[in-house]
Order: sequence, then C-alpha cells, then structure tokens
Amino acid sequence: MQITLTGASGFIGQRLIARLLDRGHTLHLLGRRRPNNLRAGVQFSAWDATSGTTPPVDNAEAIIHLAGEPVAQRWTSAVKQRIRTSRVDGTEALLRAVAQLSVKPQAIIAASAIGYYGDRGEELLPETASPGAGFLPEICVAWEGASLQAQRLGLRTVLLRIGIVLGPDGGALAKMITPFRLGAGGKIGNGRQWMSWVHADDAVGLIIHALETPTLQGPLNVTAPNPVRNADFTHALGRALHRPTLIPVPEFGLKLIFGEMATMLTSSQRVDCAVARHSGYRFQFPELEGALSNLFA
Ligand SMILES: NC(=O)c1ccc[n+]([C@@H]2O[C@H](COP(=O)([O-])OP(=O)(O)OC[C@H]3O[C@@H](n4cnc5c(N)ncnc54)[C@H](OP(=O)(O)O)[C@@H]3O)[C@@H](O)[C@H]2O)c1
Repeated sequence: MQITLTGASGFIGQRLIARLLDRGHTLHLLGRRRPNNLRAGVQFSAWDATSGTTPPVDNAEAIIHLAGEPVAQRWTSAVKQRIRTSRVDGTEALLRAVAQLSVKPQAIIAASAIGYYGDRGEELLPETASPGAGFLPEICVAWEGASLQAQRLGLRTVLLRIGIVLGPDGGALAKMITPFRLGAGGKIGNGRQWMSWVHADDAVGLIIHALETPTLQGPLNVTAPNPVRNADFTHALGRALHRPTLIPVPEFGLKLIFGEMATMLTSSQRVDCAVARHSGYRFQFPELEGALSNLFA
C-alpha cells in the first residue's frame, strides 16, 4: 500500500517506518526536516503542520498521521498554542489536501491520546467512555474532531488513543530512567493512580493492525490489557533496573518543576483496550514485567 506518514521522525514514527517497509508498504513522509538516514525508495516532502499550508498527499492509499508538538514539556502559553495548532490546524490542513483529490485514500489512522479521558480515578475506560476535563482532554477532543472530518470525505477513520509508550530509546521511559538509575526513583504522590502503558512494539503493532483491518474504525485505545498503579509501576521499574525505589515524589514538587504539565504525571487513567481485544489483536507484551524485562534485557 502507498502510505503517507506524518510524525515519521518521532519516537513512534521511526519504529513504524521499519515495520511498514518490512511489510512491503511504500512510504511518503511529510515533516519539517528531511531525515538523514532516509531508506532507499522512501519519498520525503517538507511540511510544517503549523504553517497553514496543505501538504502533498496525492497517490496516498492510506495516511498515518502522528505529527504533533511534544506534550511532555512545561506548558507555557506559547507551548500550549503549538500543541494545539500542530494537531488541530495541522489535521485540518491535511484533510483540506485530501478533499482536493479526485482519488482519495481509503483510510486515515490518526493519533490521539489517552489524555482524552482526563483524571478518572478507579473508573475503567473503554473507548466508549466520555472525555474528561482539562487542557489535554480539550486538545484531544478538538484533535479527534478534526480527524473525524475524514469520515465525511469517505475515509475509514481510526483514532489512536495512545497510552504511555515504553521503548528503550525515548518517550516516557527515557525521561523517568535517570532518577531510577541513581537510586532516587519513587512513586508519585500516594502511587494509587493508574498508568495505562504499552510496549513500543505493541504500539506499532496496533497501528499496523488498525491499518490492515478494514472493519476497524473509530477510537482505538493503544494500551496494554493490564494497566498498573503508579506504585506498582515504580517497583517493577526499580526491580528491572536493580535499584531501590524508596523516595516518594511529592505532587507539589512536580507542580513546582513542571507547572500544569504535572497533571499528566499525577492523573489516573485505567484504560481498557476493549477494541484491540475484540478485534483480535494479539499483544506481544500484555504484562508490565515482561515488557520491562524485554526493554532492559
Ligand atoms: N509516545 C507516547 O507515549 C504518546 C502517548 C500519547 C500520544 N502520543 C502521540 O502520538 C504522536 C507520536 O508520538 P511520538 O512519541 O512519536 O512523538 P514525538 O517523538 O514527540 O514526535 C513528534 C513528531 O511530530 C512531528 N512534528 C511536531 N511538530 C510538527 C509540526 N509543526 N509539523 C510537522 N511535524 C511536526 C515531529 O517532527 P520534527 O522532526 O519536525 O520535530 C515528530 O516527527 C504524537 O502526536 C503524540 O502526541 C504519543
């Protein structure tokens, strides 16, 4: 299949490129910078999702749309603006380009995040759960709303509500790992908040599952079947690294360092990957212990 991919240089996108090429797909990447190590036969076009310009999407049989300003940084008003514009305006521009095509792609597989659900305590959150309140849920609702315009254009539309992706070379784990390696890792607050994680290989596996399952559409929780509480995650990570995890991190300390973004680290999301389970996806890493031992082997 001829696939147009945004966000290809990112943590998920880089892994996805290799898997898509292995499966015989051909790729057209859209991004701000031409990658140095572009594989033979992969096409690249420059596009900044915040520029208001429409990208070249001709010949695409499917689009995988991952681009977005990183969220794990202090949310100044300028950063908030970029988080929103790169996702909402960028998706609108992408779909304006699709609308102009006489032959349209069959599908768009578009990123969103479990941030959609907000801070939900013990509640189990399948794809049918309502959105939460706050900055991230508002962004995700607007982002998904923009992506859903693709349905009007006749594209099968899958919304990837991506959880905390665990990989060896970036993402959330890379940010957490230094204090743990120094023996200063610890649970956040009382540690009871749920963390809905997914191994990077399953995150990529679920994106390919969404692409290659013609009956799948609508929201898809990209999370493992066994979310854990923050305290259990902390102990499992400490065990995987052979380090103690005795020093709890107070919530007010995180708020001092990260401001409003600290809500991402303290909120509880017990996500149920109902659509993945019912559509026959087989997880490589359903349990956290297995995922971490694979990542630190
Ligand atoms: N990783 C996770 O745990 C996680 C969890 C939930 C949701 N997600 C979502 O999934 C998507 C991919 O995640 P990721 O971890 O791979 O993200 P990432 O490593 O931060 O990469 C972001 C990608 O978006 C591109 N991008 C950013 N701003 C852009 C702009 N203005 N115009 C064009 N491209 C732009 C970046 O390209 P440049 O090379 O130009 O910077 C990069 O390829 C993101 O939308 C993210 O919010 C990820």
